[in-house]
Amino acid sequence: MTLDLTDPARRAAELRAQLQHHAHRYYVLDDPQIPDAEYDRLFAELQAIEAAAPGLRSADSPTQRVGGQALAGFAPVRHAVAMLSIRTETDTQPSGAIAFDVRLRRELELAADAPAISYAAELKFDGLAINLRYESGVLVQAATRGDGQTGEDVTQNIRTIKAIPLRLNDPQPPAVLEVRGEVYLRRDDFERMNERQRALGAKTFVNPRNAAAGAVRQLDPAVAAQRPLSFFAYGLGEVRGWDQPETHSATLSALAGLGLPVCADRALSAGADGLIAFHQAMGARRDALPFDIDGVVYKVDKLALQRQLGFVSREPRWAVAHKYPAQEQMTLLTGIEIQVGRTGKLTPVAKLAPVFVGGTTVSNATLHNLFELRRKGVRVGDQVVVRRAGDVIPEVVGRVPGQRPGYVANFRMPAACPVCGSAVLRERGGMDHRCSGGLFCPAQRKQAILHFAGRRAMDIEGLGDKLVEQLVDNGLVASLPELYALALAKLAGLDRMGQRSAQNLLDGLDKSRQTTLPRFLYALGMRQVGEATAKDLARHFGSLERLQEASVEQLQAVSDVGPVVAQSIRSFFAQPHNLEVIRGLIAAGIVWPQTDAAAPVCALPLAGMTLAVTGSLPTLSRDAAKALIEAAGGKVAGSVSKKTSYVVAGSDAGAKLDKARELGLTVLDEAGLIALLRTPPAPPTPPTPPTPATDPTEPSTHDRS
Ligand code: IVH
Repeated sequence: MTLDLTDPARRAAELRAQLQHHAHRYYVLDDPQIPDAEYDRLFAELQAIEAAAPGLRSADSPTQRVGGQALAGFAPVRHAVAMLSIRTETDTQPSGAIAFDVRLRRELELAADAPAISYAAELKFDGLAINLRYESGVLVQAATRGDGQTGEDVTQNIRTIKAIPLRLNDPQPPAVLEVRGEVYLRRDDFERMNERQRALGAKTFVNPRNAAAGAVRQLDPAVAAQRPLSFFAYGLGEVRGWDQPETHSATLSALAGLGLPVCADRALSAGADGLIAFHQAMGARRDALPFDIDGVVYKVDKLALQRQLGFVSREPRWAVAHKYPAQEQMTLLTGIEIQVGRTGKLTPVAKLAPVFVGGTTVSNATLHNLFELRRKGVRVGDQVVVRRAGDVIPEVVGRVPGQRPGYVANFRMPAACPVCGSAVLRERGGMDHRCSGGLFCPAQRKQAILHFAGRRAMDIEGLGDKLVEQLVDNGLVASLPELYALALAKLAGLDRMGQRSAQNLLDGLDKSRQTTLPRFLYALGMRQVGEATAKDLARHFGSLERLQEASVEQLQAVSDVGPVVAQSIRSFFAQPHNLEVIRGLIAAGIVWPQTDAAAPVCALPLAGMTLAVTGSLPTLSRDAAKALIEAAGGKVAGSVSKKTSYVVAGSDAGAKLDKARELGLTVLDEAGLIALLRTPPAPPTPPTPPTPATDPTEPSTHDRS
């Protein structure tokens, strides 16, 4: 790749094409070919070219996704081809597909021995319908469905959806191509959005569909751009100058070829049998899909046959939706209980009249925290809406307005933990209430043990919630190391245990002694340290000892560790009780492969060293120098002593420099410090200076480029 400085227009076009290609790999195919940083670099280069020559800024440039002013309202858009709705098959059993096939054969007056109709089956995405209008390959307009005849112009917001190409991937694009599809929000993106809202004490979104619809109709495109929307194409509107394939399935494949996101979960079926199988297979996979669906859709595959069948009122005869059980239901809130989690967080849990939702019967659902409960305004005796989608814990999303049976007091958080009686505290400005009992609280202890034993943690086979309950309630295990001291006889005497399961547990415990550092760190259950962070920490520090000694600043040098996580790790290791648990576990024989201490996986150049900074440095501020030293694993001391590894001195250095000379310490200037940061790690003591000591009062001759 060469940087063509002579012709910015050519380079800009090249960059646009590359960025479009890589955005498609990333957002549509989920298969990126280049690292994000490289994408960002190409993007920045294009931005720079466009900034220097604004005339080169074309509407289809990826830099122009978020732009424009906040709108006062949306302009109406008359659809060239009406956006219809779709009939829902009333029979929710898999056999519902048969009714559709039978109906169509009757409409078409097909004889019993006539060949089977071929159908396309696809998912019914739970989002909102959008019409994308491409003219000569360029996205010129996006509109909502509205009443089917007239929708709203939401072009600015739709342009922020990275999965939607701003230009079709076709050297000879159709004069007009209207692509219809569903804008939706992935469940994980939705959960993250709500997590953030909850942390801010702001209103949460009821479900991904509402959140997506809200984002599309958001008047400020900059706000819309922060909602990570996705899109799937499922059909066409007006088409001019395009050699369209003869079937619906081939049309979708052609759209994918043009760069549009088309869901891969599709099937073709001759007659109803394959439709029934698709309905069943997708029903079984529904919870595992990354987005909500409310059913599947069957469509006659041959477009000629679709035309022949035509429409009744505002629905095509050639398509039908076949739904699954709803993921939201109404039920009665019969009570609110408090559950105490592993970290002591008190969660209000709704007790519900059992209701079938999202495929299972639900009788408990989370209310998250007191603030959300209050904002939703739910009280015992209310009709509430419960949502269960995917493997996410069922939650109460709101109350159904209506008469209350009588006066019901507002729910209050208890002042004392309902399990151990310790005081309940709330961090200043925080949303969560916590039991202050720590591992004294049996509820926290039970949850901590369950977490420790979990499959992704120490993976102790045979240690489930019923058994942990008994171990804690019978006083057999008060802290984690005691697990490893359990005796066969005691275990065998527990409810539903016996010799054999007791021996299995002991074997499971024994097996868990051989572990890995990331698993061990995750198992300790530090707040804010999930599996990924545990892995990052292990990789970065190489050993438990080095992690234990790391300062908040050093912790923040780990990717994805911010001040909150760093502080939480620091406080964990600052508690003598936690150190005792770690010592106990190691004494119980827990081991993991050690990395060579002399050549740690990722040692930092200043690990184990203490530096002092004095005077003013030519380019670095005092804070910047400090941050660099700490990021490299060093400590910064306020005074100079025998233990100081180096003194970094600038102009007007004072008493610290005199003291350093007196003690015969190595004195570095700024360039010397930078050189030191770049050297491979040396054993902490005694340090060998990488550059000869220079007189800091002399101007530096080092080149910092
Ligand atoms: S086809 C003429 N296919 O369901 C047929 N619609 O009433 C037009 N939907 O809000 C619709 N997934 O946005 C079709 N694979 C799919 C769909 C789908 C979701 C939505 C659509 C509309 C409703 C149909």
